[in-house]
Amino acid sequence: MSTTAAGRDVAVPTAPGHLPLVGHALPLFRDPLSFLRSLNEVGDLVRVDIGSLPMIMITDHELTRQVLIDSQTFDKGGALFDKVRELTGDSLLTSTYETHRRQRRLMQPAFRRAQVRAYTPTMNRMIDAVLAQWHDGAIIDMAAATYDITARTAARTMFAADVAGPAAARIVDSLSTYLSGLFIRMMSPTSLVTRIPTPGNIRYNRAVKALHASVDEIISAYRKAGVDNGDLLSMLLTASDDDGGALAPEDVHNQVITLFLAGIETTAGALAWSLALLAEHPEVARGVRSEVDTVLNGRAAEWADVPRLVRTSHVLTEALRLYPPGWIFTRVTTSDVTLGGHRLRAGTGIAYSPYLLHHDAEVFPHPDRFDPARWSAERAADIPKDAFIPFGGGVHRCIGETFGVTEATLALATIIARWEFRSVSNRPVAPAPRRATLTPGPLPMRLHRRP
Ligand code: HEM
Repeated sequence: MSTTAAGRDVAVPTAPGHLPLVGHALPLFRDPLSFLRSLNEVGDLVRVDIGSLPMIMITDHELTRQVLIDSQTFDKGGALFDKVRELTGDSLLTSTYETHRRQRRLMQPAFRRAQVRAYTPTMNRMIDAVLAQWHDGAIIDMAAATYDITARTAARTMFAADVAGPAAARIVDSLSTYLSGLFIRMMSPTSLVTRIPTPGNIRYNRAVKALHASVDEIISAYRKAGVDNGDLLSMLLTASDDDGGALAPEDVHNQVITLFLAGIETTAGALAWSLALLAEHPEVARGVRSEVDTVLNGRAAEWADVPRLVRTSHVLTEALRLYPPGWIFTRVTTSDVTLGGHRLRAGTGIAYSPYLLHHDAEVFPHPDRFDPARWSAERAADIPKDAFIPFGGGVHRCIGETFGVTEATLALATIIARWEFRSVSNRPVAPAPRRATLTPGPLPMRLHRRP
């Protein structure tokens, strides 16, 4: 299979359930995860239509890898990113080949391991601040608590200066409203649904305005003060490359919005799923608790503990396999190309799905089973590297991976060290419907302080 070998001009099979005008928008809207999984049986490439907009869904991990590593032919774009670009403009998440290369070069230093290590005291302060609100015997929504941790961390690592406080809080609030309305915009065959002045659409449009205004407010306060606060925004404002290139003012604005958008709900989701799965599997929780007690001996988790928290990280990895927060992404072909034996014309929309690949029973036996031990060194050796892609791959691989994994591991270990938590719901945990990221719905849990 090669992207360059001559291909047969064989039509890519169309997913079942196609309807005139709306295409596959209904199953995508009603139950996108089951719909995606059903495509495995249709072919390695499957045509899915959002309204009249065709998209080629890849169901094979080797073909997904080809798409991810050839970012010049399979560039950023396609139905889903076009919707995100309406908010972020040309940012690291949405920009195409040349612009992306320049932006990534400028931003990479802010996400190096040494830099993430420097953010860990802030992460720990934010974890402590949220856990300080918990009481023995209380019932809390664990999903909301994890969002609170990652939103506070994003706000403080991005804007360390106190002047940013109120505007940063407005950003977090508006982002949450924006994220609630994003899915319907991604999957709607027409923009009509989102243009009618319903209360939801009015809230959404207000949130977008507030996001832009609050980010502008903080950036101009930083520029006026001209002080290096040692935070992400200061790094973006002073970023330069060997050729003297820097981020233009509108680039800085767009990157700030993007980092909030890409970093908060994803990391919160990974953490929330880990906690939910532990609550459902007490025998796994006991093993993790005993590891955490041995490694931490009663103190909060730190950077140097992360590699020693092996079972804890297997839980997080397995949560990322079962419920990858970023579950679908799109690309667009920039030239005619052959993929998996099919010729695709320039301008074809392509989609890949970590969720779909992570539930391939040939790679992950019993794919729905929560089995963190599948990540033990012996068993993980059998898993093809490209079949597990919660952070994507190639040049667009998540820039915040170390940041997100570190934050989630610190929070997970510190919570387990200090608290026992049990679900008080009699319903099994399920993904929240119609979210742009794969997060659990509310997770009501009763807390018990550990002695
Ligand atoms: C568990 C947490 C996270 C998950 C599962 C995740 C997942 C992903 C995935 C799958 C991609 C690739 C998208 C594509 O192929 O089009 C991506 C890209 C990206 N992520 Fe993350 N992410 C996480 C945390 C973060 C954090 C904490 C940040 C920022 C602080 C971040 C910022 C970004 C950015 C800016 C990109 C675009 C990178 C590029 O195209 O160069 N992410 N993320």
